[in-house]
Parts: sequence; structure tokens; C-alpha cells
Amino acid sequence: MMKKKQTKAAKKATKPVPTRTPWAKVRGSKIHGRGMFASKAIPKGTRVIEYSGERITKAEGWRRELARQERGARGGDGCIYIFELNTKVDIDGSVLWNTARYINHSCDPNCESQVVRGRVWIVAIRDIAPGEELSYDYYYDYDHYHEHPCRCGADNCAGYIVKAPVRWRVRHAASRLKKKKTRRRAA
Ligand SMILES: C[S@@+](CC[C@H](N)C(=O)[O-])C[C@H]1O[C@@H](n2cnc3c(N)ncnc32)[C@H](O)[C@@H]1O
Ligand SMILES: [Zn+2]
Repeated sequence: MMKKKQTKAAKKATKPVPTRTPWAKVRGSKIHGRGMFASKAIPKGTRVIEYSGERITKAEGWRRELARQERGARGGDGCIYIFELNTKVDIDGSVLWNTARYINHSCDPNCESQVVRGRVWIVAIRDIAPGEELSYDYYYDYDHYHEHPCRCGADNCAGYIVKAPVRWRVRHAASRLKKKKTRRRAA
């Protein structure tokens, strides 16, 4: 069957429009790649932007995560965009229209992700000054923490992207390793 050729105008009309917010803009980040930065003062409690994307099953989320790991091992894009919405559904935020995908992780974040009626919002957890980079805790588990080094630069940075409640374990493991190395050198 012949496929009907889409006109330029029709293509433009079906292309999803990138999500926008009056609160922040995308630009180069010192933490990683690109990030989102406050374009004006953001009061605590503001819903800054929605983290949107494709809703997929957990099984599909795992399949895409494995593909991402393989891509990363081959030197390709190893960035993680899958957001775990609940026990059944993930959101793949890698779609180009999800502007919130540029928000980086920090161990001392100024935002947090909040799930409200099945939608994910990035919300300011303190007043944010114009020009500050937006960040939230990616909430990664302790398992495989060493695969995700953190470059947030915060004073309390654990060195790896892991959720706040288990950062002490990462620090503990790092200090044990340091002691082991010192003992080996002294022997
Ligand atoms: C959702 S993307 C964030 C946007 C990314 N900076 C970009 O330009 O596309 C998530 C990826 O960014 C990187 N990233 C985010 N926060 C980071 C941090 N604190 N330290 C190191 N890399 C980080 C990691 O590669 C992570 O998988
Ligand atoms: Zn950090």
C-alpha cells in the first residue's frame, strides 16, 4: 500500500512541542552536559516544570535500561532518563519534548520530584536565586553506586549519585577502602 506523503506543515503540527516553564532555561552545566537554570527568583514550593515522557511498563523500562547500559559500554550515550513512577509504570523522559530531562542530580538539591495524580513535578524545596542551577536527588539505590560518579560539587557530595538515606553507606565504604589502602602501603 502506498503511504501518503506528509506535508511539512502536517509534520510540524504532529511534532510535540517541548515543555516550557517561565522559571528556568536550559544551558551548559558544570555538573554534566546541559542543565536547567533559574531564569528568575523561584519561591520555595513552586512547581517549576513537569517531568514528562513516554509511559512504559516495568518490563519495557528494564529492556531500555539494559540497552542504555550496552550503549554506554560501547562509548555511546549512557545517560539515564527513566523515572520510576510506581511499581507498574516507568516514564521514559528521553523524548526531546521533555525539557525537564536536562535537570541534573545534586547531593544538596534545591528541588525535589513529586508525584501528583500520576504526574511528576519538579518542585522547589527552597527559595532559588536567579542563575542557580536546578537539581534534585535522583534517588538511585546503593546497588551499583560505583557506576554513577557524582560531580555535583556540593560540600556534602557523596562522590556518587545515590539517594540521601544511603549516602552514609557510600561514605563508609569509601573510608574503609582508604584505610585498607593505607594499611597495604604501610606493610
Ligand atoms: C536526565 S540526564 C541530565 C541531563 C544531562 N546533563 C544532559 O545534558 O542530557 C541524566 C544524566 O546526566 C548525568 N548527570 C546528572 N547529574 C549528574 C551529577 N551530579 N554528576 C554526574 N553526572 C550527572 C548522568 O550521566 C545521568 O545519567
Ligand atoms: Zn554529589
